[in-house]
Amino acid sequence: MSPTSLAQFFKCAINISDLLNLPTETAVKELSGKTALYCLIDTISQLNVYDEALASEFEKINSVRSLYAYRQLKSALSLSCGKFLNELSQFLKVISEEEAVQWSLLADRVILENKVNKQMRLIVAEGPLSDKFKSLEENYISKDAHVVYPTSPYRISQGHVVSNEDYTDIDGVITSTVSTSIRVQNNALCIANPLLRSVYAPYRRCIALVDSNVDLHYKEDIQGYFEHHNIKLHYRVHRAMEVDKHINNVEKILAELKLLGASRDEPILIIGGGVLADIAGFAAALYHRNTPYVMLNTSVVSGIDAGPSPRTCSDGYGYKNLFGAYHAPILSITDKTFFKTLHKGWIRHGIAEIIKMGGVKDIKLLDLLEEVGPTLVDTAFGTVNTDKGSDVDVTCDKILGLALKSYVESEYDNLYETHQCRPHAFGHTWSPGFEIASGMLHGHAVSVGMGFNGYLSYQRGWIEKHEFLRLLDVITLFGLSIWHDILLDTEILWSAQLKMTEKRGGNLAAPVPKGALGSCGYINDISYEELKNSILDYKQFCILYPRKGVGIEPLCSDVGLEDPSVIGAAS
Ligand SMILES: NC(=O)c1ccc[n+]([C@@H]2O[C@H](COP(=O)([O-])OP(=O)(O)OC[C@H]3O[C@@H](n4cnc5c(N)ncnc54)[C@H](O)[C@@H]3O)[C@@H](O)[C@H]2O)c1
Ligand SMILES: [Zn+2]
Repeated sequence: MSPTSLAQFFKCAINISDLLNLPTETAVKELSGKTALYCLIDTISQLNVYDEALASEFEKINSVRSLYAYRQLKSALSLSCGKFLNELSQFLKVISEEEAVQWSLLADRVILENKVNKQMRLIVAEGPLSDKFKSLEENYISKDAHVVYPTSPYRISQGHVVSNEDYTDIDGVITSTVSTSIRVQNNALCIANPLLRSVYAPYRRCIALVDSNVDLHYKEDIQGYFEHHNIKLHYRVHRAMEVDKHINNVEKILAELKLLGASRDEPILIIGGGVLADIAGFAAALYHRNTPYVMLNTSVVSGIDAGPSPRTCSDGYGYKNLFGAYHAPILSITDKTFFKTLHKGWIRHGIAEIIKMGGVKDIKLLDLLEEVGPTLVDTAFGTVNTDKGSDVDVTCDKILGLALKSYVESEYDNLYETHQCRPHAFGHTWSPGFEIASGMLHGHAVSVGMGFNGYLSYQRGWIEKHEFLRLLDVITLFGLSIWHDILLDTEILWSAQLKMTEKRGGNLAAPVPKGALGSCGYINDISYEELKNSILDYKQFCILYPRKGVGIEPLCSDVGLEDPSVIGAAS
């Protein structure tokens, strides 16, 4: 049965208006006895809710939002009644907004009544269909335990094992499936915006880890939002500068999660930029080995890249992102209204990650960036001094959406980095080795890497000279760096190359534009001599640009941050 037919059937079978006329407890009792409820749960239990064909069905009817809810309904019996009704309401949006609103009213009432807000399993066990539900449960314990006893509704794992006759040789295969929902949505903290509420209301609490600069600007908004929706907020502020990407800070977050008793099926909320996304996401990966989290992205980099990324991490031994775990958020929200309070230097450095995707994945991004030019920085992506709906506003939204799409397309096909054909690592091959030592902001280090890698591509005849120059032009158009003198230290570069080759499983696999800008190829072999000489050749192009290729405020210290080169050297 298609999702739409299932929703239609459910709507016809159960009159929600009638239920709303009853006291909450009676309404839930009444619902528990409906055969349509059993049919709905039974039908979804049988499905592979992570199947691509199923996802396409939601895409075809333009209801991707309901897919997130549909997937969670697979664990219906283990959800609290409030959460079940909440997800049900989201799912029913495939047929009717009005129907969805009514079910969410019932969800709200249930959530407020502790006595009624029990696990669905317990509720149906007290109803007239208890035997049917009991046998469904029994059946699924062996058939698919995710239906009955899931650890959380956000992921599943499967596998199989074979062995020889005397069990001395055993071979196992393990697969794991997670899903992430990405929303580009402005004003997430506006009281009327239901997104965060729909995640946290069923738990009646939210553990929020908040970047200290975000706290300065948005504390009242964040606290006001949760207070209004009657959700208890555990609000914890963390300084998250580049120098704070230390394993000690991951540990500090772990201690907080322990103290607050975070549970494995309750998403924590991370509100901040790329640094907090990395370290708090890493803590979530470590806590209980896997705790779900929601990213509310407040910077350009987290909004289009680090936020939905599964690569959580901290720095280690003076090297960027040395420790880490693959752990994607269950939900990532890109809300550009946060950008209005970002320092210009942060906006500029965020644009590097967009140029990255334009350079090797989607040329349209470069076209759009050239079209809007430095206005992108001056207006903080159309959030200040810009009329709503103006050309700048619309183009900025397009840039964000397209950057996000191309990033996610590249990343999610290779979630665990099981191979190294990763276009989105453009500019990130040598730069991790010199970013900390140079004291540069991440985006400047990456754009230096992109410029140099563009040169390597041109040198190999993979792109035309005018394309290489176009790349340098776009980077410098936004005041980003194409040069830093650290490039003259061949030892640092060579050591970065060796470390990266090690990290990438024995292959350098440096992504660069190939064929044309917007398409990707990989450089795997480059000798010490070639590296050294290429840098000298590349420098000749850089010196023709303003400030000899050095960008505007390229260093962390230029934008008021501690210098990571000092901390990096010390750790
Ligand atoms: N995991 C990944 O896949 C991935 C991808 C890209 C980048 N990264 C990492 O992300 C980091 C860079 O991210 P970033 O640019 O978001 O840096 P960031 O988190 O340091 O944020 C930039 C600065 O802006 C402040 N800030 C954030 N939002 C704000 C707001 N709305 N208003 C005012 N101030 C605000 C922060 O406190 C910080 O000082 C790097 O460490 C990089 O390695 C990770
Ligand atoms: Zn990056």
